[in-house]
Amino acid sequence: MPKITIPDISTKKAEGRKITVLTAYDFPTAQIVDEAGIDIVLVGDSLGMVVQGIDSTLPVTMDEMIYHTRMVSRAVKTSLVVGDMPFLSYQADRAEAVRNAGRFLKEAGAEAVKLEGGVAVVETIRAIVAAGIPVMGHVGLTPQHVHALGGYKVQGRDEAAREKILADARAVQEAGVFAVVLEAIPSALAREIGGMLSIPTIGIGAGPHCDGQVLVLHDLLGLFDRFTPKFVKRYASLKDEALRAVKEYKKEVESGAFPTDEQSFK
Ligand code: KIV
Repeated sequence: MPKITIPDISTKKAEGRKITVLTAYDFPTAQIVDEAGIDIVLVGDSLGMVVQGIDSTLPVTMDEMIYHTRMVSRAVKTSLVVGDMPFLSYQADRAEAVRNAGRFLKEAGAEAVKLEGGVAVVETIRAIVAAGIPVMGHVGLTPQHVHALGGYKVQGRDEAAREKILADARAVQEAGVFAVVLEAIPSALAREIGGMLSIPTIGIGAGPHCDGQVLVLHDLLGLFDRFTPKFVKRYASLKDEALRAVKEYKKEVESGAFPTDEQSFK
C-alpha cells in the first residue's frame, strides 16, 4: 500500500468515504494502527494523560512530543503521521510556532501537525502553512484550554457558544488547514459545520455526521481506565488481559513453574 498523503485525505471526503484516525505514541502502538490500515496516526498530546499519567495535557513538552513522534514514524509504513503541537509551543510567538511545527517534520518524520484553537490562532496557522507544513485544526473542546473552559465539558450548547465554534471552524479552514478535529460538540452542530466546510471534519464526541472519526487508542483498547468519556467505545479490555498475564507470570515464578526446560539452555 502506498503512503497516505494529504490529497488522499481530501479525496476520501470528496468520494464520501469515511476517514479513520487513531492516536499512537510509540513503536508497537503505531505498528498496530498502521497495519490495521488507519488513515491517520495522530501522536496526540493526550499522551500526557494516557502514557505519562498526568491529569491534563498542559505539561507535555516539545521535546517529549518529538521523542514520541520519532518512535511512531519509525513504525509507520502507510498512515499519514500527524504530530500534535503541545501547549505553549505555538501560542506565544509566531516564528517560534513555525520552528516548532517544522521540528515535527525535520526531526521526527511527521507529515503534518495539529494545533488547537480557532479565530485566535489563524495567523499562526497561516504562517505554518506558508512554511509548507500541513496543519490539522482542532475546535470545540480544546483540552489545552481546560482551565479557561472550566473543565472537559461539551461545547457549543448555547447560541453564543455555537456561533463561536462555527466562526472558529470557518476561520481555520480559511487559514489553510487540511482537516479539522471537532471535539465534544452536539451532533447537529457537527453536521452543520460539515455542511459549511469543504475540508474534512474529524469527530471525537461530535456524532456520526463527521467525515471521519478519531479516538485515543488507549481508550479504544481498554488500556486507560482512570475515566472513560461518554464518546469512547471500548473495543477490547487489554488492561484486564495484561493484568491476568502478569499475575500468572508472578504465580509461576513463585511456584517454580516458570522457567521449564523449554525456556532454558543446554
Ligand atoms: O491529543 C489528542 O489525542 C487529541 C485527539 C483526542 C484529537 O487531540
